Amino acid sequence: MNYQAILDDIYGQVMGIKDRGIVASYIPELANIDIQNFGLHLKTNTGEEFSVGNYNRGFSIQSISKVLSLALASSFENNGILNRLDVEPSGHPFNQLALLEIENGIPRNPFINAGAIVIADILVSQLDNPKQDFLDYVRDITNDASINYDFKVAQSEKDTGYRNYAAANLLKSFRNLKNDVETVLDFYFHQCALHMNCEQLTKAFHMFANRGKCISDKTRLTEQKVKRINAIMLTCGFYDEAGEFAFEVGLPGKSGVGGGIVALLPDHFVISVWSPGLNKRGNSKLGMLALEQFTTKTQLSIF
Ligand code: DON
Repeated sequence: MNYQAILDDIYGQVMGIKDRGIVASYIPELANIDIQNFGLHLKTNTGEEFSVGNYNRGFSIQSISKVLSLALASSFENNGILNRLDVEPSGHPFNQLALLEIENGIPRNPFINAGAIVIADILVSQLDNPKQDFLDYVRDITNDASINYDFKVAQSEKDTGYRNYAAANLLKSFRNLKNDVETVLDFYFHQCALHMNCEQLTKAFHMFANRGKCISDKTRLTEQKVKRINAIMLTCGFYDEAGEFAFEVGLPGKSGVGGGIVALLPDHFVISVWSPGLNKRGNSKLGMLALEQFTTKTQLSIF
């Protein structure tokens, strides 16, 4: 398969599209990004790498980090996590609060904000220096010590994260948050403010396509956990657009409001795309289109 020709073709196609969606601005610092950015990086399990555009320019990975925090948390807590959250798609936006109230403080899944805040609470309890230890984990699975938080983005979200404060307080009222709200959200805002490029993301997610072994060949997750996390990506990775992503792209994946999407085909490849303009559901508009084109042209999807 001539992957480079396929990526070049997709790049040419998306760069001709005028309506690129809208850059997220509810976290003010995210609004400063140039909407013209577009990058794509593919890494096959046989070690080949292909890329186009701004694939090595860093951006805010936002909710994509929720997969990595879930992976680390599940290496500490086995099924205990499932007493504190569910694994059902929510069918609602990532920051919706009504379901949390109706369902007595048990978030639908670990990728909506309330669920990721519970996972952050688990990590705050388990790690000695939560922010540094989580950063070290991401650097370790990626084999790249240059990865860091964007502290301006973390502060910007802290200043304006009213819905996340509401979610954390609601969780606390249902006794589903063990640590204090400030500490957990400080960790969560930093986790979401991880600054990475497409190539680094592809490497970080290699373990989900490689039965738990990360790029340094160290086993970081059991096969059962990889199977489960991939299933949650497929059913919950795109919030109220998870069905559409499965329908159009057909891969487990995860999006972030920074405009990144990572998707993977177990035993075959990881692909990361970045285009900061979002569609109405908060997922990268051109990113979704590029991935749809990729699985259509290669005929490689889980279906
Ligand atoms: O908590 C938030 O709202 C952001 N830090 C992350 C949201 C996000 O990326 C949703 N993804 N599509």
